Amino acid sequence: MEDSIEVILQDHSAKYLHRYPDNHALAAGSGALLAGCYGLWAMFVLPGFRRVPLRLKVPYLPSSVEQTANVMKLLQGRQGALADLGSGDGRLVLAACSQGFRCTGFEVNPVLLAYSRARARWSGVPAGHARFVNQDFWKTDLSGYSNVTAFLAPGVMQALEEKLLAELPDDGRVVACRFPFPRWTPSHTEGSGLDQVWAYDVIAVRKPRPQNPAA
Ligand SMILES: C[S@@+](CC[C@H](N)C(=O)[O-])C[C@H]1O[C@@H](n2cnc3c(N)ncnc32)[C@H](O)[C@@H]1O
Ligand SMILES: *[C@@H]1O[C@H](CO)[C@@H](O)[C@H](O)[C@H]1NC(C)=O
Repeated sequence: MEDSIEVILQDHSAKYLHRYPDNHALAAGSGALLAGCYGLWAMFVLPGFRRVPLRLKVPYLPSSVEQTANVMKLLQGRQGALADLGSGDGRLVLAACSQGFRCTGFEVNPVLLAYSRARARWSGVPAGHARFVNQDFWKTDLSGYSNVTAFLAPGVMQALEEKLLAELPDDGRVVACRFPFPRWTPSHTEGSGLDQVWAYDVIAVRKPRPQNPAA
């Protein structure tokens, strides 16, 4: 899994970023092109994927070590239950479990589900602390979660804003990886480039801005 095509794609993007430090458009363009080709491939090949509507499809790309560390920084001090929307090979869930969370990973790709369940067993996570469910998170009520991580795709972040605003409790915190929410103001951010992550506190993004702060 570690040498899988996703990692190779990610390495490619990272290399371009490094080689052309001043040309982010080129880096973003080539990254998007690679991700796009892979997305097209994944869309037709992966079985669980076919159930998700076209406009909400998100390809599998694993978090880097750096990105995972950034997510954990923004979750520091929090505990309890955590949901990872699109858990992939389970790496974010396992990292959060090692920080004391009880995690649920939502994943529609059965290969990744099987792999992440096996991985949880090998790594000795306490029983019941890492749960991977074969569920489309768009069709899942997330109101029971107040700690949420999402590493998805730029095109779905606005739809996700709406869903999370409607469902999460006021004390919720959402950590978005690589792709920020388009309309929310983050309360914190960690890292830069491909590894950047943003934390959003639901209470802050839900509160309407005061019309006249001086009054
Ligand atoms: C970019 S990957 C992130 C994987 C993992 N969270 C990580 O950080 O390494 C997104 C994952 O979301 C899954 N996914 C996409 N749409 C989904 C949906 N509607 N319900 C559940 N999982 C979904 C994909 O199969 C993919 O594995
Ligand atoms: C999420 O984290 C907060 C802060 O640590 C905690 O109080 C809450 O119980 C957690 N949410 C759930 C559903 O466990």
